[in-house]
Amino acid sequence: MCGIVGYIGKDKKALNVLIDGLEHLEYRGYDSAGIAFISKDGLNIQKEKGRISNLKEKINFNNESNLGIGHTRWATHGEANKVNSHPHKCGKLTIVHNGIIENYIELKEKLKELGYKLKSDTDTEVACALLDYLYNKYNDMNLAIKDFEEIAKGAYAIGIICDDDYDNLYAIKKNSPLIIGIGNNENFIASDVPAILEYTSKYIVLEDGEFAKITSNDIKIFDKNADNINHDIKEFDGSKEDIGKNGYNHYMLKEIHEQPEVIKKTANHYLENNFNELPDFSKYKKITIVACGSAMHAGLVGKNLIEKYGNIPVEIEIASEFRYKKLFLDKDTLVIAISQSGETADTLEAIKIAKENGCDTAGIINVKESSIARNVDTILYTYAGPEIAVATTKAYSAQVELLSIIAYNIAKSSNDINKLTEINNFLDDLRKLPIVMQEILNNTDKYKDIANNIYDKNDIFFIGRGIDYALCMEGSLKLKEISYLHSEAYAAGELKHGTISLIDKGVPVIGIATDDAICDKTISNIKEVKSRGANVIYLTTASLNKDGDFYNEKIVLPIVNPLLQPLVNILPLQLIAYEVAKKRGCNIDKPKNLAKSVTVE
Ligand code: G6P
Repeated sequence: MCGIVGYIGKDKKALNVLIDGLEHLEYRGYDSAGIAFISKDGLNIQKEKGRISNLKEKINFNNESNLGIGHTRWATHGEANKVNSHPHKCGKLTIVHNGIIENYIELKEKLKELGYKLKSDTDTEVACALLDYLYNKYNDMNLAIKDFEEIAKGAYAIGIICDDDYDNLYAIKKNSPLIIGIGNNENFIASDVPAILEYTSKYIVLEDGEFAKITSNDIKIFDKNADNINHDIKEFDGSKEDIGKNGYNHYMLKEIHEQPEVIKKTANHYLENNFNELPDFSKYKKITIVACGSAMHAGLVGKNLIEKYGNIPVEIEIASEFRYKKLFLDKDTLVIAISQSGETADTLEAIKIAKENGCDTAGIINVKESSIARNVDTILYTYAGPEIAVATTKAYSAQVELLSIIAYNIAKSSNDINKLTEINNFLDDLRKLPIVMQEILNNTDKYKDIANNIYDKNDIFFIGRGIDYALCMEGSLKLKEISYLHSEAYAAGELKHGTISLIDKGVPVIGIATDDAICDKTISNIKEVKSRGANVIYLTTASLNKDGDFYNEKIVLPIVNPLLQPLVNILPLQLIAYEVAKKRGCNIDKPKNLAKSVTVE
């Protein structure tokens, strides 16, 4: 993962741009941070373990600089310490890198034989030494980079400063994201556009295998043969406000509250063009969804909806598993990738494999122009805007919404009258959904009370069946990732096959029963844990609401169109996770060991 940023200009403001950019990229990793910049005394490198704030405290912002590169790290090779932090310098070159050089061990041995003394455990220092070796061989950066791309295997977005030439900033991209920001007498490189949005909204996306030579007023791009090429300039569609906290204490809370607006925006987009961006689903006998983390959980909700209302089998594949298993794919299978970032390495690779197997591909993606978006046949964007909190909320909901839209469209063409009656008025209900969601978000005291009752427990269980089980998985992940409270999601009927032995007096169990067809079965399972002392929080809808002594707390949610119900039901789970993490004093937006964009296997 990691985030990189670079600046070359005439306004002597490199330090501000680098630190500001890194702060926006901190969601990509926060094990250590560092910058390299050219001041009147030459090259300076400063790095610190931990958060960017640690680095910022040590920086003298009076230093004037027109050229610099910066990095925020999510450690892969070598522990998170100062020596392993970027930038790395070897000979005349200083670099920052996002990605993994897969053949670094073999390269390291060769470079050592050539006399390079490497200090860190990182693959990045090896990449730096290799670039330096090649640069010395040719005395030409373009030729050095061209050779580097042939030799180095894996993924890399790299920013380079060369001691012989402080008038140029170099950038290389292969399988890791990198954009070039275009300013007035100043140019930038960054892992994403929001990192430099303070300064410019105009940018160029580098493609895999390309590299750039950048001055304050010129950008030259080269393909893998080192031939000069041109790219269109794009304009970022979003504002600075989209990436601020807007008065909320945390990005996560802000993003939870943005959900009604996100649902509206995404719905409007697809309603306005009458769903004509959707693939023709009648061509396919099966849908395979590939995704990771919460995106995979969104896929599970989609599977339930598409199978029930669209009557097409849907397989859910964890992208990292899909990559290495025997596949049964053919042209009758549509493979859909779901990804907020559009950069998740396993999901991207899964899509490439699907294409090699002759499948059509589609992507439900939030970040425009991202790698997955550029690799699928059909792009279905979600309109969640930039999501900063590591734990996804609004992007997850937009993914579920799009899957509901897909299920509706498949159902509509199936002419199954019974199913169509059940989801009757979908379009109107979709338009009204933001109001229902807003009402829930306006009344959050209940979730604070629940959090007060459970925040100091050691374990918590989520149980449900069918689509409720899919929600349990997301609710449980949300809670554990930001509060560090151990939590597990179980198919309600499965708990008694072993795990019920962990249920003791006071253990919180969130029992979700919102599906008409199976809620009575789930309630029986809830009774099983209640009778063993569990502290039960029963979540249901107004139409299924039951009274009794099988729960301690009850959350009753408004009933909406069955295709949209999961979007209502997830809100309490997100809010409970948030409130529990807050009570436990956790770093909600940047939980330990995690990163938002997982660009490594
Ligand atoms: C990380 C994030 C999760 C996300 C997953 C997949 O683990 O912390 O929130 O669901 O990656 O990311 P993607 O960008 O592909 O949706």
